[in-house]
Amino acid sequence: MVALIGGGHSVGVAHCSLFQDRLKDPKMDSKLKAKLQNTCRGPNDPSVVLDQMTPLEVDNQIYKQIKSQRGILRIDQNLGLDDSTSRIVSNFALNETLFGERFAEAMQIMGEIKVLTGNSGEIRTNCRVVSH
Ligand code: HEM
Repeated sequence: MVALIGGGHSVGVAHCSLFQDRLKDPKMDSKLKAKLQNTCRGPNDPSVVLDQMTPLEVDNQIYKQIKSQRGILRIDQNLGLDDSTSRIVSNFALNETLFGERFAEAMQIMGEIKVLTGNSGEIRTNCRVVSH
């Protein structure tokens, strides 16, 4: 799960509305916080890249950022804070190869999950809640 979240969030963008709470975190790196506050002042819910170093590459940079209090989403920063995941974050931050192997395994396992089609499943309007 740590490999999946970090790997998935090592590319792509997040909307300001999803990390408003983070802008009040006193522990967040102050330079990053100032940058995010500035961007999020804009209209129409702006977005920022989740991996500020290599936003177009699936790599272990996001774990290094989490280690230096530069995680943008709470779920990312929490991976570095929680006892059950912090060691894995440190290992991935130090070892790009290890992360690459674990991420590939995790994606393969996820790819084997059977998709529910027709009346057996649904495409959610809002990913957080069942539509019906
Ligand atoms: C390949 C895997 C993944 C990809 C490509 C991915 C991508 C993304 C993107 C692009 C966003 C920002 C959405 C926006 O701002 O509109 C996001 C947010 C988020 N992701 Fe992921 N993600 C992945 C895996 C995961 C996993 C495994 C979890 C948790 C178990 C997770 C939890 C979250 C959470 C909590 C948010 C914040 C949005 C919210 O609070 O509703 N992600 N993800």
